[in-house]
Amino acid sequence: MQFILSIFAALMAAAAAKVPTFVMMPLTTVSTVNGKTQLTNRQWVQEKFSGLSSIGMHGIMSDCWWGLVEKNGPKQYDFTAYQDMAAIAQENNIKIQMVLSFHACGGNVGDDCNIPIPQWLENPAYYQTRAGTYTKEYISLFADRVPMDSLGRTPLDMYRDFMQAFKTQVMDMYPGTVEEVQVGAGPSGELRYPSYQLEGGRWSYCGVGEFQSYDEYALESVKNASIAQGVPMYGLGGGPSNAGTFNCKPYGNGNSNDCPFYSGGFDSFNTDYGRFFLSWYSNSLLKHGDDLTDIARQVYGSELALSMKIAGIHWGYASNNHGAELTAGYYNADGVDGYALVADMLAKRDIIFCFTCLEMTHEDNVCASRPKNLVGQTQDAVRNAQGQGSAEDKLKKLYAGENALPIHGYDALNQVVAWSKGTRSFTLLRLSDSTNWEHLRYLVDMLK
Ligand SMILES: *[C@@H]1O[C@H](CO)[C@@H](O)[C@H](O)[C@H]1NC(C)=O
Repeated sequence: MQFILSIFAALMAAAAAKVPTFVMMPLTTVSTVNGKTQLTNRQWVQEKFSGLSSIGMHGIMSDCWWGLVEKNGPKQYDFTAYQDMAAIAQENNIKIQMVLSFHACGGNVGDDCNIPIPQWLENPAYYQTRAGTYTKEYISLFADRVPMDSLGRTPLDMYRDFMQAFKTQVMDMYPGTVEEVQVGAGPSGELRYPSYQLEGGRWSYCGVGEFQSYDEYALESVKNASIAQGVPMYGLGGGPSNAGTFNCKPYGNGNSNDCPFYSGGFDSFNTDYGRFFLSWYSNSLLKHGDDLTDIARQVYGSELALSMKIAGIHWGYASNNHGAELTAGYYNADGVDGYALVADMLAKRDIIFCFTCLEMTHEDNVCASRPKNLVGQTQDAVRNAQGQGSAEDKLKKLYAGENALPIHGYDALNQVVAWSKGTRSFTLLRLSDSTNWEHLRYLVDMLK
């Protein structure tokens, strides 16, 4: 078996240019003690970096938690743990993809951590559902320009200051070690709304989720948009009254009786009102991504690799409504290519489109899940994105992949390899004591 795999690896390698592989660090790699950040287990990090280097792994991805680094007060940064991480990486010739994680850790799939966003925020605005349920995972993007701390800073100001501090206090001290910065743009670090919330058992797979357009700033924004477009009636009430709740399933073996917004036709996503609302909702998300990437380019200049993560909403994909994508903020229905809009927004500033669920092969009619069609669409979106260069050049420069769930076998690894050919990089989720190092070696060999 080993021999066959090796031959296969050699053939594949010849066919594809090298794709650097990274592995994600545990969520709990850094913690705070007496207000100072530190590596939770420094020796573990040293051993792993050395091991990764010895099998030819290019680097690691790590969260850099806002809620830890700036825990003590506005602009009171403590990057000690990340300096330490960069020093160990440098010694072992391991590169870092650092995720600036402006979201809370805890409450999502696979989370074994509890890191809230900073507690010193004044009157933070959180996303809300129609019923007034809110989540503290990430500050509502509708409040991006609302002053929210004792220094009078808005969330966009805080993100900018954090990016700048990370640059001067970590990157400039270990030149070349942080090879890429990923800008956190929402829950789980992804450019999306928190439409599917595991917290409090609100949502379970494969519910359609809920629109998050009901905090006070969202209500004002949709009202303004409706007036500007001459349809003031559309701006009343924040969102569709007939979109149901988190666990409605208007696809697969579910039905849309409780969420007729997704049924098509009268009062539905593909009416004038539906188009108005979904355009405003998805454009607001794109604007947030645009604002963040604009700031990131100003801080980091034109040369550094910058990325943004896009969520892999693969359920409900095989339906007309693509409802789960709509609530997450991807307007991928009714003839609109939601991922092309994202890809163009990112490509404009040479931002890498980092996409998940590259390992998934299973298609599920009960949930209308089509991960492979989805990944294919996102790769096409990046190939065809605005800007200079051939389709292949764009994929190589601007598309990076991850797996969504832990990988347990070679089927999933081979799917990853197939999608990763011709892309910029792949990052495996996630390093732990039970990581199968044969899998890591296999990936590195297949993609080198
Ligand atoms: C809405 O419009 C009002 C009046 O023009 C303006 O003052 C306010 O800033 C706008 N709010 C948003 C969120 O666009």
